Amino acid sequence: MGFPVIRPRRLRVSPNMRKLVRETTLEPSDFVYPLFFSATVTEPNPIATLPGVSQLPVKHAAAQAREIARRGIRSVILFGLPKTKDPRGESGCDPDGPVPRAVAEIKSAVPDMLVVTDVCVDEYTDHGHCGVLRKRHGTEELEVDNDATIEVLAKMAVMHARSGADIIAPSDMMDGRVGHIRRALDESGFDSTAILSYAVKYASAFYGPFRDVADCAPKFGDRAGYQMDPGNLRESLREAALDEAEGADMLMVKPALPYLDVIREVRKATTLPLAAYNVSGEYAMLHAAAAAGMIDLDRAMMEVLTSIRRAGADFILTYHALRAAELLGG
Ligand code: PBG
Repeated sequence: MGFPVIRPRRLRVSPNMRKLVRETTLEPSDFVYPLFFSATVTEPNPIATLPGVSQLPVKHAAAQAREIARRGIRSVILFGLPKTKDPRGESGCDPDGPVPRAVAEIKSAVPDMLVVTDVCVDEYTDHGHCGVLRKRHGTEELEVDNDATIEVLAKMAVMHARSGADIIAPSDMMDGRVGHIRRALDESGFDSTAILSYAVKYASAFYGPFRDVADCAPKFGDRAGYQMDPGNLRESLREAALDEAEGADMLMVKPALPYLDVIREVRKATTLPLAAYNVSGEYAMLHAAAAAGMIDLDRAMMEVLTSIRRAGADFILTYHALRAAELLGG
């Protein structure tokens, strides 16, 4: 008799049996939903490359927050589109800018909503780079000036904290910015404001739609001088360890899907909570394939989100959050 004694299929016989032995689960509270607030639009402005996502006027912030909370989602991350841009991104430090105003609106509508703010100057610089520029020694070539940039970032972080943000999330990839922001927050009395560091951020093609919605594509060159090379894994551990040592409370890997191995390795290397950003291109890719009749969007989405959690992410920044929460019963 060559019949098997051990049969893994016994544990797959019914939905309840499968649920009982499921190793990785998703909850609406695992998601952080990105929102884009613009100082110039008066009505939601949908973005073709990011289906279902709009640039929003600040007056819509409260209604958005209530809708998100109704689905069981407890956190949002805010990005801003300012009225004016300059070479240093100073409008990102304006307490009347779209982000601080939206933080205040969201906090008054849904006081327990966790509000994360993205700290980076790319949405506020006229050249679209994530930092202040200078000429490279002895050449006419422009490069991002690390130490001048972290001064602006610290100022922006303190302003966000003052507006009521719970979590500051620097996404610029400058060296030393976590320590610099931590000191600035502490000196201003914001020792309880947490830092979620985009510690491991790759120079990725998957940010394309985001640059449309946040209007922040670099006007020349690319971001390879500060974001990480997609071929590097060991470097992710170095970046994560540095940010942890500088005082980050939580770390992030970004993008998620092409870097599931990186999520797994960083998970093993730190005890800090770990986030992954399921970025705009990953989201748009599923929508495009579904619109072409190639895949079932809901199933593919839940499978992708599960894979990111299975790789080791505690929570996920994702544009899928609203729909996924709805499918989870929120
Ligand atoms: C930079 C920032 C970017 C994203 C989040 N923060 C863009 C970039 O580095 O070019 C991308 C997120 C996404 O693609 O969804 N402020």
